[in-house]
Amino acid sequence: MTEAQTGESPPLLFFDTGVGGLSVLGETMKLLPNAPIIYAADYAGLPYGMKSEAELAARVPALLGRLVERYRPQLVTIACNTASTIALDHVRSALDIPVVGTVPAIKPASELTSSGVIGLLGTKATIRQPYVDRLAADFAADKKLLRHAAPELVYAAEAKLRGDQPDIRAIAAAMSGLMDQPGGEELDTVILACTHFPLLREELAIAARKPVHFIDGAQGIARRIAYLTRDRIWPKHNEHGIFVTTGDIIDVASYRPAFAKYGISRFEKL
Ligand code: DGL
Repeated sequence: MTEAQTGESPPLLFFDTGVGGLSVLGETMKLLPNAPIIYAADYAGLPYGMKSEAELAARVPALLGRLVERYRPQLVTIACNTASTIALDHVRSALDIPVVGTVPAIKPASELTSSGVIGLLGTKATIRQPYVDRLAADFAADKKLLRHAAPELVYAAEAKLRGDQPDIRAIAAAMSGLMDQPGGEELDTVILACTHFPLLREELAIAARKPVHFIDGAQGIARRIAYLTRDRIWPKHNEHGIFVTTGDIIDVASYRPAFAKYGISRFEKL
C-alpha cells in the first residue's frame, strides 16, 4: 500500500551523541507536531567533540546506516554540529534519503551583531573545522569571531535534562572563555555551535552578566525539514516517539520526564 492509501508517513530520524538534538527536535515539532519521531543518541560515542576527524568520518555513516536499515526513516537530521561539520558529506554519500545537517549559525549571527564581535561556543572538534573557517570567511569576514571550546557544557546539559543541577561554574567558565579574549568586552552575540548548548540558554545568559544574543541553527533546520517533507501526509495524532541509544545509559529512568515533553516514551537499544 502507498503512503496516500495508509495515511502513514515514515518517521523523521534525529541523531546526536546525547540529548543535544532535542534542541533541534523541539523547533521541528513546532512546525510538524504530528511527525513520527525516532531520536537516536550515540551515548557509546559521547563526546564526539574529543574524537578525531577520521574516527567520526567512519563512525557516523556506519551508525546511521544501521539506524536507517532498522527504522526506515524518510529523512535523517544530524542534530550535532560536530558530526555535521566532519561527516555530513560521508553520510550523504552512504544514504539514499535526504540528510539535513547542523552547522554553526555564523551567517545569522553576523547579521544580528551591532558591535561586530561574535563569540562561537562549540566542541573542541567543531571549532577547529575548516568548515567553520569557510563560513567565517564567507559571512563574517568583516567581523571579529572569537572561538572557544566548551566540552564541559555537554555534560552540564545532560545533567540538566536528567533533572540534576548543571555545573554553574563550568557555564561561567565557558562565557569567560569568550569574554576574556582580546575584544571580548564588546561581544554582543554568541553562536551556540553545539546542539547541547541551547538547552542551557538561561544559565548562559545569567553567566554573561550583560545582554547578549544567543543564536543557534535549530529554527532554520526545522524550516528545512518542513520544506523537504512538504508533500507528506502526517498522522492525525502525535504518535509516541522512540528513543534509541548505543551503549548503556545507566540512569535511563532519569531522562524519561525530559523525553516525555517531546512525546517520546519508548526506549530501545541499537
Ligand atoms: N551535541 C553535539 C554537537 O552538536 C556534540 C556533543 C559531543 O561532544 O558529543 O556538537
